[in-house]
Amino acid sequence: MAPPGSECLTLKGVIKTAAIKESFNYKLWRYDGAPGELIPLLQSAQEHFGYIPRRAITYISGVTTIPESDIYGVITFYSQFRLQPMGKFVVRACAGTACHVSGAKSIIDTIEDELGVEIGDTSPDGLFTLLTVACIGCCSLAPVVMINDDTHGRLTPASMRKILKEYRRKGKEIAEGAVGAS
Ligand code: FES
Repeated sequence: MAPPGSECLTLKGVIKTAAIKESFNYKLWRYDGAPGELIPLLQSAQEHFGYIPRRAITYISGVTTIPESDIYGVITFYSQFRLQPMGKFVVRACAGTACHVSGAKSIIDTIEDELGVEIGDTSPDGLFTLLTVACIGCCSLAPVVMINDDTHGRLTPASMRKILKEYRRKGKEIAEGAVGAS
């Protein structure tokens, strides 16, 4: 049975991956307006897109009849939800105890300054997203930052800037290669 109100809406272009679509539909089908049921719906959308795009909010609102403004309210309340896509490079700066006492704050300040972002944001060029984590698990290298799957340790503000510049250069090369190949 289709969820109430969904007949005028289409999943096409909204939820593409079969498994996610199935899970999303299942949650919509079970939706009965109980408090807290919106969260799993939003998690499904974010799982698929990496963030929650405007069109997913419109779709969820249409099916559940929850006003879009209320959905935005929930999204902005919980830090797990993102309204922006993730950058090509996800920078996870460790703010755990070992890193904190080894100067994590100055490293995070340096990243924010170099990229022109705050924690949780994606840079305007779409290359970097800055997040913080509690511990990356290599405290002996503190302060530590992970960029995608690569770990960078014993950082100083100067070495952090150098590393970010290198990633920016790589990101531009990839973008130019993609344009040249198209
Ligand atoms: S506290 Fe930073 S890696 Fe453990």
